[in-house]
Amino acid sequence: MLGAALVGHASGALAATRPKPRVGPLSFPDGFVWGCATASYQIEGAVKEDGRGETNWDVFSHTPGCVANGDTGDTACDSYHRYGEDIALLKQLGVKAYRLSIAWSRIFPEGRGTPNAKGVDYYNRVIDALLAAGITPYVTTFHWDLPQALPGGWQSRDTALAFADYAGFIAGKLSDRVTHFITVNELRCFTDLGHQDGKHAPGLRLDARSVNQVRHHGVLAHGLGVQAIRAHARSGTQIGIADNSNFYVPVIETPEHIAAAKVAVREENAMFLTAIMEGRYTERYLTSIGADAPKIASGDMAAIGSPLDFVALNVYAPNYVKASASPAGYEVLPHLKSSPRMASPWLYVGPEVAYWAVRTVSELWKPKALYISENGTSADDPVVNGHVDDADRIMYLRNYLTEFQRATEEGYPLKGYFLWSLMDNFEWADGYTLRFGLHHVDFVTQKRTPKLSAAWYRELIRRNTLV
Ligand code: NOJ
Repeated sequence: MLGAALVGHASGALAATRPKPRVGPLSFPDGFVWGCATASYQIEGAVKEDGRGETNWDVFSHTPGCVANGDTGDTACDSYHRYGEDIALLKQLGVKAYRLSIAWSRIFPEGRGTPNAKGVDYYNRVIDALLAAGITPYVTTFHWDLPQALPGGWQSRDTALAFADYAGFIAGKLSDRVTHFITVNELRCFTDLGHQDGKHAPGLRLDARSVNQVRHHGVLAHGLGVQAIRAHARSGTQIGIADNSNFYVPVIETPEHIAAAKVAVREENAMFLTAIMEGRYTERYLTSIGADAPKIASGDMAAIGSPLDFVALNVYAPNYVKASASPAGYEVLPHLKSSPRMASPWLYVGPEVAYWAVRTVSELWKPKALYISENGTSADDPVVNGHVDDADRIMYLRNYLTEFQRATEEGYPLKGYFLWSLMDNFEWADGYTLRFGLHHVDFVTQKRTPKLSAAWYRELIRRNTLV
């Protein structure tokens, strides 16, 4: 099908990759997994309850000046107590799946050592309630809330080993009911934003060599995590990663720009997804970092390259690329003042990135299956007479999903989509100032109210076709 698409058109390079005019309903494949996503620190609250240990985000959010308005995740959406209500919202939407994350420090308050039965019980209750509602849980084992007690945090190799022990333990407890595990969420954020830019926990600005070492520990944690989950989970358990590579859109759909976009995806993500999919760092990456290369122990790269059952992508802002005569073969185009954006300053709008993320990752590494583990947007969301008519979020979602649909239509192995997010929540350094939810949350009363986008998503799921 793809081959035919490339050779089947005589009308010039621009038409060359479009297989056929897309007319009629834009339907998704039968069995497409529609879901919503959240993460523990962003929704749970109850940070001191039932033996939960302190995390790096507890410390960071309580440090003056680190989070907008001094907001913290102390209460967040109070989902620790209200998960039943939240599962009812999921059921209302008609989703088939829910991506949640486990707070490592509820399971091992010190990061390692003696497990905390009450933490395990909490996730048992959530998972049982999801299954009773007919919703399949997809479990992320690390979504940035790192037990504070681990000495050195991600700067220490031991943290990667501790992660693997914890991931294996929790997979052993849950895999009688959980079929899909995601090791870590967005390597680039918890490594670079936390240790290079100082914008996320632990708020450090380290030198290049130390940052590369943190990145190496991140991919190593993922790889050792895959092995540990595989060793402890029921056979047949599907294991993947939620990756937020920088994805590149060829600025014009011609073979030269398309080839440039593929090289850009491989090289610009050399320290993360490329290392994971290929089990090695690219030559160009190693040359570019020179003496700042991380220490790599024997066996690390094989662990990092552990085979995956699926790759899940968090897709938001686009990057545009053009072919160039430079040694790299591509040039990344800067965002412009006039480039459209949503409410978050980094959230440029470029729906084509949805298609190109799926296509370039598929063509580069041929994963068995792909999911979109996150896509969505912040929006202003004014409440008028008790309603949030978020037409801008619907516009954004419809356009991105049109491009994901194109990817399924062309035969790429995209199996499901998790919308970020079920409800407004703690948006990291932006605190509660930016809302990503399909449901509005009043953070004083904890009242959840569906926005217009919730009705839109429900209808899309019902028809399995864009509306
Ligand atoms: C990606 C992160 O995984 C999630 O935690 C965050 O809230 C969304 N992007 C929106 O920024």
